[in-house]
Amino acid sequence: MSDLKNRLLPMLGHVSGKRSAVTCALKCGNACAQGVCNTSSNNYFRDVVSAEFSRRNMLGVSGAGVLALMFGGGAAANAGSATGLAPAAKVGQAGNGSKLKFTGIDGVANTVDDVVVPKGYNWKPVIRWGDPLFNDSAEFDPENQTPESQAGQFGYNNDYLDIIEIPGTNGKRAVLFANHEYTNENLMFPPTMDPSVVRRTAMAAHGLSVVELRRKGKGQPWEYVRGAKLNRRFLMDTEYELTGPAAGSKLLQTQADPTGRKVLGTQNNCAGGTTPWGTILSGEENFNQYFKVSNPSDEQRRYGLTNTNPSRGWHVEETRFDADLPEGKNEDNRFGWIVEVDPFDPTSTPRKHTALGRFKHEGANVTIAKSGHVVSYSGDDERFDYLYKFVSKGKYVEGDKKHNMTLLTEGDLFVASFTGNSPRNQIDGSGVLPSDGSFDGTGHWIQLTKDGKSLVPGMEIDQVLVYTRLAADKMGATKMDRPEDVEVNPHTGKVYMACTNNTKRTAAEVDEANPRANNKHGHIVEITETGDQASTEFTWNLLLVAGDPAVDESVYFAGYPADKVQPLSCPDNVAFDSAGNLWISTDGQPGTIQRNDALYRVTLEGPERGKVEQFMAVPIDGETCGPVIHDEDGMVYVAVQHPGEDGSWDKQRSLFPDYLPAGTPSGKGGLPRPSVIQMYKGKNGH
Ligand code: FEO
Ligand code: CA
Ligand code: CA
Repeated sequence: MSDLKNRLLPMLGHVSGKRSAVTCALKCGNACAQGVCNTSSNNYFRDVVSAEFSRRNMLGVSGAGVLALMFGGGAAANAGSATGLAPAAKVGQAGNGSKLKFTGIDGVANTVDDVVVPKGYNWKPVIRWGDPLFNDSAEFDPENQTPESQAGQFGYNNDYLDIIEIPGTNGKRAVLFANHEYTNENLMFPPTMDPSVVRRTAMAAHGLSVVELRRKGKGQPWEYVRGAKLNRRFLMDTEYELTGPAAGSKLLQTQADPTGRKVLGTQNNCAGGTTPWGTILSGEENFNQYFKVSNPSDEQRRYGLTNTNPSRGWHVEETRFDADLPEGKNEDNRFGWIVEVDPFDPTSTPRKHTALGRFKHEGANVTIAKSGHVVSYSGDDERFDYLYKFVSKGKYVEGDKKHNMTLLTEGDLFVASFTGNSPRNQIDGSGVLPSDGSFDGTGHWIQLTKDGKSLVPGMEIDQVLVYTRLAADKMGATKMDRPEDVEVNPHTGKVYMACTNNTKRTAAEVDEANPRANNKHGHIVEITETGDQASTEFTWNLLLVAGDPAVDESVYFAGYPADKVQPLSCPDNVAFDSAGNLWISTDGQPGTIQRNDALYRVTLEGPERGKVEQFMAVPIDGETCGPVIHDEDGMVYVAVQHPGEDGSWDKQRSLFPDYLPAGTPSGKGGLPRPSVIQMYKGKNGH
């Protein structure tokens, strides 16, 4: 089938300026090649929300008793319980307190097809695309994959990752969650494979996986357990329950589901978060690229539904993905949500939470305010889109999982407005610091919903939640440079947002929170909520302005000497270790600083604040997703996504992770397999 490549990559040739054209086409549906979705007239620089709205927001939240709360109450992201704040390194205290000792590696050239780890560390896959999960699953057979075999195997392109130890097993058992963002049919299947089999097998390689792990003890590598009782695949025919104020809305009703409450499947899951009650949140991101639509509405355009002929062709297999047909009406509105999954209950129904709004969710991370309300932060990953926050109506109850699993179904949704404190003429688009020495300022959370009602003029509650981008446009949110992962530091309560890049921002469009024109390297925003995690006011500053300090004077790593930091570009996922250091993984370095994507530790507190150390690099064309840092037992995990992306079935560029001899045919295993890997102390190598 010689037209396979063209069919899958109709826009190949476009390059966004940072990563492979293939990744642009397959991962995001060429989002960067499309026009900017956000054509709203929000002011780029000033906070334009009226004093009236501002006052109402304040009253709204204080009415819920939240403003009276004091700062604090972070929950360790992976600890499974709400904990107090542990001490971080203090100002004046040397070092970063991390239990993970390593000597940082150098940047790795973007031609290297290898996992590079520090001296004294080893790495090994935990699970690979195609590994069978169940006793009756077919073995991975790249030459002859089918929808049925893939449905019983680990999916493709793992992104969000967590590994949660099972209590009472002394660190010997765990449950792994990974989502599967998208597929690269050019690498995965022989060109001779039947097109319908390709489409349906690729569909089964999307979704989510839960897999049990076992090992000999702490600090030892894991292996996955085939046939374990918690193992589960979530496929495109898995039923999800819509919750919250928009569930049942006519905007969510379809021919197949007149209730508007039951959705089959999840699409393009990217980052995520693990809740303090032990469930997983996963973000539906570039869902627009799976729908055929010829005459998009204004609302559909705002969500990027402009691709009239989706390259994966799912609409050929299932007419609900054809928005031009009656069967497809409203189906696109049923994707773009935060999904919650209970990995410890294999019979549970996964849910999509409408109260958190619908957009291109990178992920969502929950913390607990001192009051007990839970707060979820979520970025909308598109150029010039927004940062959101959800505050639950109910309160967290330690140990009551059933109750806590209701917390994301009711609450108030906010969107962020950032205001700089330096004169406009000092924010010139070059990225050079203003005279006060910092890109910083104040901000507030604009309230979109309150007690299940809309606060957006002219929009009902279901419209605000289904068309959240349009609601936020109306309320004057600040246009950011692609908000990716947003996480709370469990030690300090500060919030860290990765803005990965935005090469479309012009000098006329810069503001102090997005100060560089043609921002190809991205930046990290550090947010301090005023008083409490549920507050409506905050202060902010840019922690990192990324890039290569050797060639770019705008690079800023919290004031750490530029000649002592390593280049870092396109921050994407963030995580914290047990000492409160920030870990950053990247997506796009091969195209910007000619290095493979990588994982870095950044010291946040003390005299070495801003020190960046590279822990590892992923193989050629790959992305460093889902970092999990268990420094307490010396383990680091990443989900290696799209290794060898620019290859083809007949000419692979990566043999990760098995590295069979060069020349091994793809059908015999000579192909890249996106995999979760673990890194730990041991003899160097694999
Ligand atoms: Fe799937 Fe925003 O990266
Ligand atoms: Ca400033
Ligand atoms: Ca991402």
